[in-house]
Amino acid sequence: PLGLFEVLARNRQSALGRCVCILREREQPPRVFTIPPRQRLSSPNRLVSRRRNFTHLINTHTHKEREGKKERKKEKHKTKLVKKKHATPRVFFPLLCGSDLTLFESNSDQKSPHIFVFPDAKQTLTSITETPIMASSRRLLKSISSSARLFSNHHTQNQTRGYKVAVLGAAGGIGQPCGLLMKMNPLVTELRLYDIAGTPGVAADVSHINTKAQVKGYSQADDGEDGLKNALKDCDLVIIPAGVPRKPGMTRDDLFKINAGIVKGLVEACAENCPKAMLNIISNPVNSTVPIAAETLKQKGVYDKKKLFGVTTLDVVRAKTFYAEKKGLETAKVDVPVIGGHAGVTILPLFSQATPKAALTDDEIDALTKRTQDGGTEVVAAKAGKGSATLSMAYAGALFGDACLRAKNGEAGVVECTYVESDVVPGVEFFATKVSLGREGVEKIHGTGALTAYEQAGLDGMMSELKDSIQKGLDFAKGA
Ligand code: NAD
Ligand code: LMR
Repeated sequence: PLGLFEVLARNRQSALGRCVCILREREQPPRVFTIPPRQRLSSPNRLVSRRRNFTHLINTHTHKEREGKKERKKEKHKTKLVKKKHATPRVFFPLLCGSDLTLFESNSDQKSPHIFVFPDAKQTLTSITETPIMASSRRLLKSISSSARLFSNHHTQNQTRGYKVAVLGAAGGIGQPCGLLMKMNPLVTELRLYDIAGTPGVAADVSHINTKAQVKGYSQADDGEDGLKNALKDCDLVIIPAGVPRKPGMTRDDLFKINAGIVKGLVEACAENCPKAMLNIISNPVNSTVPIAAETLKQKGVYDKKKLFGVTTLDVVRAKTFYAEKKGLETAKVDVPVIGGHAGVTILPLFSQATPKAALTDDEIDALTKRTQDGGTEVVAAKAGKGSATLSMAYAGALFGDACLRAKNGEAGVVECTYVESDVVPGVEFFATKVSLGREGVEKIHGTGALTAYEQAGLDGMMSELKDSIQKGLDFAKGA
């Protein structure tokens, strides 16, 4: 026990790869707190500069807390360490819970930060400027909710609403695990699982998980036309992985013939039953199915470009994994933007913008880029005729769906790479870059950032394929 909190786990990796601590306050249920990567705190130095005040407070506090001989020894040791480390900068991550202030102290090995709890921080800290503490706390609280959500079904501070979410293609390879992950998301109050057939079984199975979302299965086979209608009625978010996957030797474009019609039909139903929903299109070829969805919604008079997303999160997930592996970095701390589209050369990871920065040779950049572009094909080949990526895609789809819900719920600073209607690159109407998400969907489309000569060549090289795929989708939807 430390102050008001019992520490159940420190610095564990969450399902989302973030660094978390699990604390329990008195008899309360455990709560998960993320420790944000250092670079996400815009003013760690200001906190460092206040170390004297913090050290003083820590000593005063721990003095009060001392219990027994053993405890006193520990404290002495701690004070020694504090003195020893006096010359090196120490960084504290603050977290305000009600009026209590918790400080996570980072140490040099970053493995087991000390945690200090100051009850009634407002009174204790009157002499310290509140602004940097409050600002960092707000940032910290923002990231808490996302990790906590996949972790537990306890509400976190900025969860205010529940949402209706539908998965179309829910009995499939992606649909089933994606449904499972959305069932674990506490922002979801109703989860509707729709497929042509097989959904009652999937829904019954998933519904036994003890999280709050109510699950219902709908299928064409059991419910006829009403199945889709009822699944979509007034939904806030629709995730669409319906359609056929690739077999070895096929391109994503080879799926167009079958999947174009499936996506068109499902999006028409969305337009009729949940015109204000955010749509997450997973079905391939994404470079064409998103334009198909846009044109279909336009024809129905309900197109809102801010609410239509092609899910390219799997490319980002792969780029992060491959980069972290190559450079021996902690995967959870890695970020790599991926721009363009979602097929072969149209997938362009920007390793020059990867963080944390690690030196990469030209050959390494080329190999990492190619592996990211061919990630889907690597899985298709390994599955040898039994489909394409399903589990990693379900994870990526749930991650992106969660980002949409958090933004809808008012969380600020939600940024994801996604394929949307965009004018970032002249000549293509749809393009993936980093996008800030808000309550109404797309809030701001970010540019590509400065590109290296290698990346610029990659961008130039994808243009004709991307243009053709977009046009093919638009033509199909227009019946041209
Ligand atoms: P799957 O065959 O395992 O599942 C697809 C499901 O869609 C099936 O259950 C099927 O019955 C259902 N379906 C077909 N037509 C439907 C309709 N009209 N309405 C409702 N459901 C319908 O395939 P999968 O592995 O889950 O892949 C699904 C799609 O996702 C494929 O097109 C695949 O290429 C794509 N995909 C995209 C990404 C990405 O990064 N965007 C990643 C992986 C896979
Ligand atoms: C992927 O990237 O894994 C998906 O687009 C599926 C595929 O066909 O490669």
